[in-house]
Amino acid sequence: MKPVIITSVSEMIKVSRSIKTSIGLVPTMGFLHEGHLSLVKRAKQETETVVVSIYVNPSQFAPNEDLDKYPRSFKRDIQLLAELDVDYVFFPDKREMYPEGYKTWITVEKISRILCGKSRLTHFRGVTTIVTKLMNLVNADFMFMGEKDYQQIVILEQMIKDLNFKTRIVRCPLIREKDGIAMSSRNKYLSSQQHEDALCLYKSLLMAQEKYEEGLTDSAEIIIQMKKLIERCNGVVDYIEVVDPNSLQAISNLLKGCRILVAVKIGKTRLIDNIEIN
Ligand code: PAF
Repeated sequence: MKPVIITSVSEMIKVSRSIKTSIGLVPTMGFLHEGHLSLVKRAKQETETVVVSIYVNPSQFAPNEDLDKYPRSFKRDIQLLAELDVDYVFFPDKREMYPEGYKTWITVEKISRILCGKSRLTHFRGVTTIVTKLMNLVNADFMFMGEKDYQQIVILEQMIKDLNFKTRIVRCPLIREKDGIAMSSRNKYLSSQQHEDALCLYKSLLMAQEKYEEGLTDSAEIIIQMKKLIERCNGVVDYIEVVDPNSLQAISNLLKGCRILVAVKIGKTRLIDNIEIN
């Protein structure tokens, strides 16, 4: 059945406050792919009422980023969500989310400034602020998020803990296309040659896992080898970091359970990926 589409903040509050069951939120920026749909399926399994938000949040894009050309496909998104029996779609516009006079921002210190936060200075401030608003408006008990955006999840979990929000994040696995590329709406920007080149992110992560299995644990050495592989495929490395999975702090030796996070530019498209080492 087609989901009920809600476009105003006041209506979203009215509806969410009248729901007596558990509420699962899947926050998205639309242009849905299998990665998003896997989150929706999980939300359907684990909560009784599912709300998917579709909102391309301007405050998480810097002026030189791709806000204007960010892909949109509302009609198709609704069809896909109807097939999964989603109850509500929250689809507000900018005036609803940031009305004139808007002044409040939420920042999670330190961990918003590392990794992606180094080159995207205000990105996580935009994410934490909009996600707070969405969790609150939807009155979400659970929020379903993919581990592709690993840093985003850790930051949001920290915020939820620090601010005593009731919503709990359900971490869901990163979904890859058959060839290994992590699913992302931004893959749409890639030409077929660039798509081929972009496989280097995952290949470099798999190589790191193999090196670890062979006994190499020195982070610096593994990073050098990953960088070489990526550069051979025309990728420009923003960062490659081996981190503690909870604190996101860089660690000098790989150990079981650590994460390797990468951000790479393929042409003009910035892509991210990560794996857990085990
Ligand atoms: O991961 C995303 O798509 C966005 O950062 C989110 C969580 C929907 C907030 O705009």
